[in-house]
Amino acid sequence: MTNIAMPAPVSAEEAQSQERVQTLLAQMGLDEKIGQMSQLQAGGGYVPDHIADAIRAGRVGSVLNEVDLDTINALQHIAVEESRLGIPLLVGRDVIHGFKTIFPIPLGQAASWNTELVEAAARISAAEAASCGINWTFAPMIDVSRDPRWGRVAESPGEDPVLGSAIGVAMVRGFQGSALQEVGAIAACAKHFAAYGAAESGRDYNTANVPENELRNVYLRPFKAAADAGVATFMTAFCEIDGVPATGNHWLLDDVLRQEWSYKGMVVSDWESVVEMSVHGYTHDDSEAAFAAVTAGVDMEMASSSYRDHVEHMVHSGAISLEHIDRMVGRILQLKFDLGLFENPYTHREDHAELLNRQHLKVAKDLATQSCVLLKNEQSTLPLSTTRLESVSLIGPLADDGYEQMGTWVFDGEAQHSVTVATALREVIGRTVEIRHLAGLETTRASSSDDFAEVRQVAAEVDVNILVLGEESFMSGEAHSRANIDLPGQQLELLEAVAAAGKPVVVIIMAGRPLTLDRVMPLADAVLYAWHPGSMGGPAIADLLLGLASPSGKLPVTFPRAVGQIPIYYAQKNTGRPPTDATCLHIDDVPAQAPQTSLGMASFHLDAGFRPLFPFGFGLSYAQFQYVKITTSHHHIALGEYVDISADVLNTGMHEGEEVVQLYVRDLVGSVTRPVRELKAFRRVRLRPGERQRISFRLHTDDLAFYDRNMQWVVEPGHFHAWIGGDSEASLQTEFEVRTA
Ligand code: NOJ
Repeated sequence: MTNIAMPAPVSAEEAQSQERVQTLLAQMGLDEKIGQMSQLQAGGGYVPDHIADAIRAGRVGSVLNEVDLDTINALQHIAVEESRLGIPLLVGRDVIHGFKTIFPIPLGQAASWNTELVEAAARISAAEAASCGINWTFAPMIDVSRDPRWGRVAESPGEDPVLGSAIGVAMVRGFQGSALQEVGAIAACAKHFAAYGAAESGRDYNTANVPENELRNVYLRPFKAAADAGVATFMTAFCEIDGVPATGNHWLLDDVLRQEWSYKGMVVSDWESVVEMSVHGYTHDDSEAAFAAVTAGVDMEMASSSYRDHVEHMVHSGAISLEHIDRMVGRILQLKFDLGLFENPYTHREDHAELLNRQHLKVAKDLATQSCVLLKNEQSTLPLSTTRLESVSLIGPLADDGYEQMGTWVFDGEAQHSVTVATALREVIGRTVEIRHLAGLETTRASSSDDFAEVRQVAAEVDVNILVLGEESFMSGEAHSRANIDLPGQQLELLEAVAAAGKPVVVIIMAGRPLTLDRVMPLADAVLYAWHPGSMGGPAIADLLLGLASPSGKLPVTFPRAVGQIPIYYAQKNTGRPPTDATCLHIDDVPAQAPQTSLGMASFHLDAGFRPLFPFGFGLSYAQFQYVKITTSHHHIALGEYVDISADVLNTGMHEGEEVVQLYVRDLVGSVTRPVRELKAFRRVRLRPGERQRISFRLHTDDLAFYDRNMQWVVEPGHFHAWIGGDSEASLQTEFEVRTA
């Protein structure tokens, strides 16, 4: 039997609410308790008899996937009025990057590095979902993702634990508001606990092999931050870690989450991930799987029925204690009390803001604008100057596709509410500039070049060619991984056909992941990476193309040159043989019959070198930012003290713009080796042309802590390097020392 300690109440309010839970628990039969631990699939805008019966009998704690307000109210009515104890339902839904107003995919949101906007977007998503009766979202997804082949990188905040934590916390705050019972607040869910993003070869659901030290220092960090921020629920991952599926992983769910982190919220499984433990080969059957999940501390089972079918027997046989069940059910009831569901089980539309209202769409546009990353801008091709512009082409399968621009995990958004690049450009410049729009390819995968002759002709006749290329939304997201992450179909050929005309070429890419763009970059004068930008992608991109806004997004993931470089991320370890430009010979430069040891004995690929195509943190602007004069307030500090690292940022360009200033640190020697760089802090600043600002980051020695070999969270005295700059390859460096006293 596992012992899960009941947390001691910390305030009178908490004590009172725990008392309510205990009073209710005391009235419940075992079948009703197990019912609370079960979540059923609903949906379709009606109440099926089997669900109505199960709710009435007290055998359901939660439903997911119903979004029709009247149906949800009807379900709540059965729970509250017709079941013996009248316990309301948790109503869950994947509101991942918007409900009706669709924001950029989470990876795109992370590219904004703007936690306030991300929080505002989550707030709106919650408000819209809540207006339909939903009280629980399965978001944020905060899996650190270092493999762009993995389709779910689209849902993640990217490769970095610090950025991922900041984005995750912002989303939790946005969804949950300042109190869960507020109108428009819903419970958030930190998922997928844990290391799901480390799926081998980026194939979804695949095994994650992560040593405990790496797990703690990288993959668990955003989860710890979400727990500290008060996220109401956690969801277990589909994957196994070190041979034990996350859903039955007592060490992860109890030792770490409950004991070490003192997490008091509830834990839900992923969809059928309890019974899938038998498919993993971890348990023999559903009964063993239920036992493993219950004893590990999975409070609620999503979709499958192993708890309903087997747990009662286990309690009667003494295999699981009633106290243990009470603690699990207590956490579920607690959440229902926290959400105020006992007082207000029903949703009244008139209490809520309108869906897709102006303010919602404005935030969607602002976030889409700030999430776009300018990767290239030769000869200041962008912004387009409309004074001299007579005609542009608008080519590509994604230029006018309101559905695809929404991206993956959009259950409730509707294409009719998306504004495409074609619509937005016509709106802004259509009266003065001729816009010649043709798709060129029917879809991003299409292989017919039938329209290329027309494309060539148009491309030669206009002043500037604008292409909108990328991936359809289904190419990323759950179970949608790719082994080859080039532009799909004939899009490269389409781009070649356009580039051959010799006119300036602007490429906009909408995608759910970093694509390998090695062959795209030389063909384009400017490249703007828009991810899947959501409902307001068109107006955001039009503003950026025309200079009504300046690009300010920064990559939340490293862009590889080639798939063979993966995993490639900035916070790598140094190795014993780190590469330098001098020590890495490219395969084309190797003389015939070169001796084995003549090529530079360093860690690199002969055919791809060691550099990514674009580093983490990278992104250009129409402004020109320069960094100078880095200083440190102290050359040495004692444990418990802080150091201020500062630098001047100048805008030497002609445009006003925002820059995400980033601070990186390297701990030179550790009892376990430390990454070559780690992001420690970042700040968005706006600078007018000619403006100079001194940016200062305060770094406390606690910010330098990491898990050591004994899995202790420690700060080790020693020497540190620090950089301030506009990406993870920033060269402006200083250093300081941490001493014991
Ligand atoms: C499976 C996914 O892994 C998870 O993220 C999602 O929340 C659930 N299905 C529910 O749809």
